[in-house]
Amino acid sequence: MKPAALSSSFPKKVPLSPYLLTLLASMALIFFSIVQLSPEEQKKLIPRTESGTEKYLPFAMGEIEGGCDVFQGRWVRDESTRPLYEESDCPYIQPQLTCQEHGRPDKMYQQWRWQPNDCDLPSFNATLMLETLRGKRMMFVGDSLNRGQFTSMVCLLHSIIPPDAKSMEVNGSLTVFTAKEYNATVEFYWAPFLLESNSDDAVVHRLADRIVRQGSIDKHGQHWKGVDVLVFNTYLWWMTGLTIKILQGQGSFDDQIVRKDNIVRPKIEDAYRMAMRSMLEWVDKNMDPKKTRVFFTSMSPYHDKSEDWGGKAGGNCHNETSIIEDARYWGADCRKSIMRVIKEVLFGESKMPITFLNITQLSGYRKDAHTSIYKKQWSPLTPEQIANPVSYADCVHWCLPGLQDTWNELLFAKLFYP
Ligand SMILES: *[C@@H]1O[C@H](CO)[C@@H](O)[C@H](O)[C@H]1NC(C)=O
Ligand SMILES: *[C@@H]1O[C@H](CO)[C@@H](O)[C@H](O)[C@H]1NC(C)=O
Ligand SMILES: *[C@@H]1O[C@H](CO)[C@@H](O)[C@H](O)[C@H]1NC(C)=O
Ligand SMILES: *[C@@H]1O[C@H](CO)[C@@H](O)[C@H](O)[C@H]1NC(C)=O
Ligand SMILES: *[C@@H]1O[C@H](CO)[C@@H](O)[C@H](O)[C@H]1NC(C)=O
Repeated sequence: MKPAALSSSFPKKVPLSPYLLTLLASMALIFFSIVQLSPEEQKKLIPRTESGTEKYLPFAMGEIEGGCDVFQGRWVRDESTRPLYEESDCPYIQPQLTCQEHGRPDKMYQQWRWQPNDCDLPSFNATLMLETLRGKRMMFVGDSLNRGQFTSMVCLLHSIIPPDAKSMEVNGSLTVFTAKEYNATVEFYWAPFLLESNSDDAVVHRLADRIVRQGSIDKHGQHWKGVDVLVFNTYLWWMTGLTIKILQGQGSFDDQIVRKDNIVRPKIEDAYRMAMRSMLEWVDKNMDPKKTRVFFTSMSPYHDKSEDWGGKAGGNCHNETSIIEDARYWGADCRKSIMRVIKEVLFGESKMPITFLNITQLSGYRKDAHTSIYKKQWSPLTPEQIANPVSYADCVHWCLPGLQDTWNELLFAKLFYP
């Protein structure tokens, strides 16, 4: 997906200035942990009261005292409560994400807990989640990163369901996990651009050209109707380095490649804004703010350039087993300009309240959490690749269990305590 890194050598000796930076950052971190609020000072969860019910969003069980930005915080090692499940106990993880099975030697990446600065996250409660989804549908819509979050959600829920009371079915773009006794489904719908595109085949989508059809949200949206909790994401596919072309009008994508009619090449930000606006229009038209909830997950960062965090040129996430401790770290890949577009559109233009899952920064610290070389490969590796693992390390997707369980803890927190 990204151009292969050129150098095979990894730094054995860390250059001085990044080392100093790291040291300073760790000192800052220690300082911040000292000034951290004591347990008594942590903000409390306040249960919902029935008076003034109109102020609560659907599914809300209460609120966090005085509000709390759960996305501002730090990673804490917690071997006693993490991981939330074992890789071998969740049969639904796709082989692209089972890192232990594919030989990853370390496990520390599974043992981090996200600690917001001003409050504690409520513990993920699978029973509560399934009771809430009784007779309902929850659907993740987007790309392979959202598929990872969907899988994590299924892993977090499935252990309390007996084997004959659950099923997983795939039909084209739609994957459905059913908890039969709850009559509840957790679903994933593949739509990497949300709009119709030439990358919509759930299996075969490796093309030279990316073409997205303007105004085509209903093409996929018809399959999202009637869903009670929707979780959108879209980012990676806008950023693959290939020119994004927008097709204005009808006709097949193949014809357009030949004829080049009605094709424009906007700036990524403009194309992204167009897709987000289409999503909002769809939501405003099809979702009921009194009964349903919509989430939007921000950009999932990747770690394909060690220089970004003070490492040596030519490296990437391969062999990384520790987190980035510089609290100000923001990877070069995650465009602040896209974050600005999200902010403008999501908070400025929607009638339906959309809950934002701002996972970009907290995931940016997790250069250790990618699948790297510990995954099923799409095609056999060449001898050149085997000789140089950096060249084929996947620094986009995340091992499960791992980081994406935290995204679902945040989703859980925002669903019940928005
Ligand atoms: C990655 O780590 C392994 C084991 O510690 C080591 O043998 C290998 O040389 C490292 N790879 C690179 C590219 O540094
Ligand atoms: C989880 O939620 C269920 C259903 O609301 C509740 O009965 C149970 O006490 C909760 N468990 C914990 C550990 O809070
Ligand atoms: C099961 O859930 C669906 C929505 O997902 C609903 O339409 C249907 O009425 C429910 N069936 C029963 C028996 O509750
Ligand atoms: C698969 O999806 C298609 C289109 O949504 C539908 O017509 C078909 O009945 C589904 N097949 C199965 C086996 O569910
Ligand atoms: C998401 O969080 C980052 C880091 O805290 C912040 O810079 C950014 O503005 C936030 N985005 C939105 C849309 O609130």
